[in-house]
Amino acid sequence: MLKIILLSALTGLVLAEDLSLQPRYLEDVPQTRVVGGREARPHAWPWQVSLQIGSGRSFSHTCGGSLIKTGWVMTAAHCVDRSNTYRVVLGAHNLNTAEGTEQIMNVRQIFIHPQWNSRNVGEGFDIALIELSTEATLNSAVQLAALPPSGQILPNKSRCIVTGWGRTSTNGPLSNVLKQASLPSVDQETCSRPDWWGSFIKTTLICAGGGSNSGCNGDSGGPLNCRGDGKYYVHGVASFVSALGCNTFQKPTVFTRVSAYISWINSITG
Ligand SMILES: *[C@@H]1O[C@H](CO)[C@@H](O)[C@H](O)[C@H]1NC(C)=O
Repeated sequence: MLKIILLSALTGLVLAEDLSLQPRYLEDVPQTRVVGGREARPHAWPWQVSLQIGSGRSFSHTCGGSLIKTGWVMTAAHCVDRSNTYRVVLGAHNLNTAEGTEQIMNVRQIFIHPQWNSRNVGEGFDIALIELSTEATLNSAVQLAALPPSGQILPNKSRCIVTGWGRTSTNGPLSNVLKQASLPSVDQETCSRPDWWGSFIKTTLICAGGGSNSGCNGDSGGPLNCRGDGKYYVHGVASFVSALGCNTFQKPTVFTRVSAYISWINSITG
């Protein structure tokens, strides 16, 4: 259902003759295989959350997100711009098993970036903040993400890892366990070359992957975790990929660049 809704939101886009330049949310990609992804060590990414949509009494995973404060989760705008019942699960590894580490949170309020336009994902602003109805308890399975300093730009080929429970094959099931894949960053200069994404790539976006054997995995809203002084910082919020798939040569996965939104995040979360 979500897939159909998201696809219809994209039908207004006329971007390029070239199919590879048409963006798709990660949920919607006819991806035939996943390269380089593997199961994460349980709770190795303790800020990773599962955003879930309720239907009746059951909830199902729809997007990833990052816990940025005990009462706040950062995700993609396109994950939360429909009227659904949402909940957030923290501290999970296998979504099909009660592991004892989960904290299941209701949502108090959702703040979508005011400039988000679901008919033009390429403009950027694909970022939203979810206020939880109760504060998370931090422990070994639940920790806060570190965000980069405002305006920080990663050099080309920085070491980044995308994480998520995203689909593992065409229309296939979600992964039960959290997976991770190495996805080196690609700088603006390279990503906006005509034979990469071209001028489509705004400076508020960050590209990662797109090499001949880059991995892909994860799902919309989830973190791009990049290595900084001794730890990982969440530099990106997964936004879209090429219609040809997330491991298409020179069509990296595109993320909202978190360092472009630090003051907006602070203005909302206090
Ligand atoms: C950045 O890295 C990519 C490979 O990931 C490479 O193709 C490209 O030439 C590099 N860009 C620059 C400016 O060195």
